[in-house]
Formats: sequence, structure tokens, C-alpha cells
Amino acid sequence: MMKFDSSHGKLQENILDYQEKVSAIHKMIHEKTGAGNDYLGWVDWATTYDKEEFNRILEAAKRLKEKAEVILVCGIGGSYLGARAAAEMIQGLYPQSEHELIYVGNTFSSTYLKQVLDYVKDKSVVLNVISKSGTTTETALAFRILKQFMEEKYGKEEARARILATTDKARGSLKALADAEGYETFVIPDDIGGRYSVITPVGLLPLALAGVDIQKIMDGYCQASEELNTDDLEKNPAYQYGVTRRILQNQGYDVEMFVTYEMQLRTLAEWWKQLMGESEGKEDKGILPASVNFSTDLHSMGQFIQEGKKVLFETILTVDKPSEDIIIPSDEENLDKMNYLAGKNLDWVNKMACEGTLAAHEEVGGVPNILIHVEDMKEFSFGYLCYWFFIATAMTCYLLEINPFNQPGVEVYKKNMFKLLGKPE
Ligand code: PA5
Repeated sequence: MMKFDSSHGKLQENILDYQEKVSAIHKMIHEKTGAGNDYLGWVDWATTYDKEEFNRILEAAKRLKEKAEVILVCGIGGSYLGARAAAEMIQGLYPQSEHELIYVGNTFSSTYLKQVLDYVKDKSVVLNVISKSGTTTETALAFRILKQFMEEKYGKEEARARILATTDKARGSLKALADAEGYETFVIPDDIGGRYSVITPVGLLPLALAGVDIQKIMDGYCQASEELNTDDLEKNPAYQYGVTRRILQNQGYDVEMFVTYEMQLRTLAEWWKQLMGESEGKEDKGILPASVNFSTDLHSMGQFIQEGKKVLFETILTVDKPSEDIIIPSDEENLDKMNYLAGKNLDWVNKMACEGTLAAHEEVGGVPNILIHVEDMKEFSFGYLCYWFFIATAMTCYLLEINPFNQPGVEVYKKNMFKLLGKPE
């Protein structure tokens, strides 16, 4: 399903020399003995996930379908990015769907929220609020405003039927509020952290509401869990990627530029940045995750990558089959001089741009490039890709002796902000 290619990576160490370390870490992950081991619920999630709850997600989606012209997804970080990454990857940016997903609760921007409220005021709305802790300020504040909006628009009873809460099974203010109001609730498992949670109700519920086939996502996740359950570095491309990152950082590259050639993968790049950045960036260690979307950004960041300071390597996510393609038409007058491409597919041009850029950056620019190939942008591939990146992240962090599952650094801004806001202790 997914392939890894380090042949353009300019590696000065042999990946296979890491076999012994990788085997020890593989054991540590699967036996759950490493740092952060109580957040490894995603490792066997393909077999342990709650099937009853999964069916409840499907039922809720079926029931609310005709009410859901717009689905407001209220969450931030791991409680938001995965669903958006998946929906855009699978459905594209302008899907012919009757259900539009709009993301809220991920910013304090008053203009943004007010414009969303104005945009949806005459539309049929369903609201899914998502917060594991149930206390995140961005999400809780937006939800307070949206709850009032829904109750004014529909009345208390109907608003209750249109609001779904995804949160901890017992703890947090959101759970207490949902129980008091009588909202249907979905559980975020204790042992799966935010950025690893798209394959739980956090991602699956909004995706099902938007008409995505979530069973296929789980099938892909399941297949990856089986295929990547080997410590043999020669057979595990996700581990090869994890090791390659470490080798390149040893060579002095402290920035990883994640490159995509599809507009609908931009949020996937944001999701990847969160996964890598929050998992690895601690104790003064880690690679800074950055991203570009080509060929768009070849006309901006391309200059730096080609000729700027040699601080980065590129990781290109290539897609074998695009979701759509267009044949370039011929034009009798040929005033734009584009007839040399008439009859070719636009995706072929995209692929040639990728090939040409790879050579330019690697051979002329001296920038190491590594490639990850994914077959297509469908549900199964998304599910597969999730496990692939989760296990690669765990491996690469443990190789750096970092706990991949906590995020102590994100508390610092909150402390300052709460002081300024006058939050009671
Ligand atoms: O990955 C993480 O753990 C974070 O990004 C959280 O998902 C984010 O802070 C939102 O937290 P919560 O779901 O508790 O509102």
C-alpha cells in the first residue's frame, strides 16, 4: 500500500545498521513498556475498538443526515486536524456533497466565528463538539456561543437532538455538560492521545456525518497494523522512515519539509506537522516539521529550498492515482503555445513537475530527498497511512529517547493566558 524510498536521501549511514535498536523499540512499543506507555491504545486499536460504539456512529450519521446541510466540527489540535485532513484528502476541497464540514473551536478569532455564524444562520446545522479534556478554552468558548446559537435557532429540544459530544467517558466539564443537557456522547479512549485519535470517534463521527465510508478507513488501519507488525527493518517501510529521519538529523538537518503535490493534502500536512512536532519537539530535541504544497509553493518557498541555507531535507508524499484527471485540450490557434501538451493528462504534467523538481533540489541544490508513495487518496489509504505515520512517529521519537505521547510545552502559554484572563484558580 505504501512504499518508502531513501535512494535520493544522501544518507551517510546504513539504515539496516539500526536493526538492533529498532527491534528493541518494536518490542517496547508492542509490550507497552516505554515512556508514555499508557497512550499506546492505537497500536492494537484495529482489533480492540468498540464495535458497538462504531455502529452508534453509523446510526447517528444516518439519523442526522437530512438535518446536516452543515456539520460544525468544534475542536482544536488532535480533536480537529485528523477529521479535516481525512475529509479533504478523501472528498477533495469542493466535494459534490450535501454535507459541508465547517471547523470551529480552533481559534479565538471573533471575525472567523461571527462569519461562520452568519454563513450557517439559514442552513440546516448539526454540531459535533470534540474535546478529550473537556476543558480546552478555544473549544469550550466557541461551544458556549454555538450552543446558544443552536438553541435560539431550533429551540432547546431540537438543538439537543442536533448536538453530539465526543469526550472522555467520565471526566471533564464537557462530559458533565453533555450529561446535564442530554446530548448523545461518544467516547475518546483514555489510552489514545489527541494527535493519534482520528481513528476513534474524534475523527470517525464527523467523517461519517460528511458521508465518508469509515469502515474502509478502519479496514486500511487494520491492514497497516498487520503488515507493519514486524521489527524487520527491510520489511517495515515506516520504521525505515523513522530511522532515516534520525540519520538525516545526525547529518545536521534540523528541518523536515513535507512536500505534497495535491491541494487536498494541505491539511494532511498540517496533521503530520502536529503529529511530528508535538510528539518529538521536547527536551531541546527534535526536527522542525514544515510543509509546502507544490507546484504552488515552488513559486515561493522553492527558491529557499533550491538555493537557501542547507538546513532541511524534503519528504515527498507522492500519490500514484489522482482522484480526478483532465485531458489537456488542443487549440487550433495555439496562441498560448501549449499545444505541445495537448492530449496529455494534467496529472502526468504534475508528475513530471515532481520528477523535475526532485532532480533540481537533489542534484543541483544538494538537498536530501526521501519519498513516501501512497496509492490513492481514498478511505482505505487514509486509514493505512494513519497507522504508518503513528508507528513511524513512535519509532523515530523512541530512537531519540523522547516520550512521543505527552506535550508538556503546550501548557506554558495557557498558564500566561489564564492569568491575563483572570481565570479563577
Ligand atoms: O494532541 C493533543 O493531545 C492536543 O493537540 C489536543 O488534541 C488538543 O490540545 C485538544 O485537546 P482536547 O481534546 O482536550 O480539547
